[in-house]
Amino acid sequence: MSSPEPAAGQLHPLHLPPQKVAAGTYLVQAAQQGLGAPLSVHLNSAVFQGAEPIIVDTGSARNRDHFIKDVFSLVEPADVRWVFLSHDDSDHTGNLAEVIEMCPNATLLCSWALVERFGNAYDFPLRRCRWVNDGDSVQAGDRTLVALRPPVYDSPATRGLLDTSTGVYWAADAFATPVPGGPGTAPATDVAELDPQLWWDGMVMFGVHALAPWLSLVDRGRYAKTVRNVQGHRIECIISGHSPVIGADRVAEAFDMIGRLADTTPPPCPDQQVLELMLHAMGEQ
Ligand SMILES: [Fe+2]
Ligand SMILES: [Fe+2]
Repeated sequence: MSSPEPAAGQLHPLHLPPQKVAAGTYLVQAAQQGLGAPLSVHLNSAVFQGAEPIIVDTGSARNRDHFIKDVFSLVEPADVRWVFLSHDDSDHTGNLAEVIEMCPNATLLCSWALVERFGNAYDFPLRRCRWVNDGDSVQAGDRTLVALRPPVYDSPATRGLLDTSTGVYWAADAFATPVPGGPGTAPATDVAELDPQLWWDGMVMFGVHALAPWLSLVDRGRYAKTVRNVQGHRIECIISGHSPVIGADRVAEAFDMIGRLADTTPPPCPDQQVLELMLHAMGEQ
């Protein structure tokens, strides 16, 4: 069950300790070193404790050892009642089989689209699944959870998860941004630590090229309404697979930035010339 070894030239994810973001609510953190720049990208998941504890996404396989240790330092496997899977990408499903096996009392919150898309890689225990669509609510003991699709996403299976008891919103891939830091320098763990321009530039680069290249195609009015609809829920804190924590005082700013993404022209997507420069800098060419 240990983490797979990275390929030559690749690094293990950087380990960051779990970060408490609200009562009984923890961001389980890791970060991957950026390509060709002194930057890192968060690879987060979360644990919501309480009467019916929830594991929110299952991290990446390459971070398995730390993920399992961190998650089960926050909740006993037998106590886990729910496992929420936001979508089918490898950085969110990397330890799914291990978690489902270790947590025999957990129901898997997922969807038809997720099972259809990921059924080639994982035998879903269908009798343990509960399918949720955008807007559906689930009562998890003392927490009411809402499956709330973020405005931007890279899989049609995507649902975020809002815990209405704390106002913490798991936004799946939305709000993704690289952050300064890497080996020897701890990556930022709160957007308050980021230079505002760097935050915006990072969100543009990732939001368009790595998440939602379709943004330039959308009807601006309908997109703005979608952003407003998500923002209209009581959201006190945004946590994401690929962002430092976005605290209450920056939630409005973050939604404003997401709204502006559709009208933004990003820098060119790195091409073969960039790859060759990177390989040269790495001494591999
Ligand atoms: Fe994704
Ligand atoms: Fe992701």
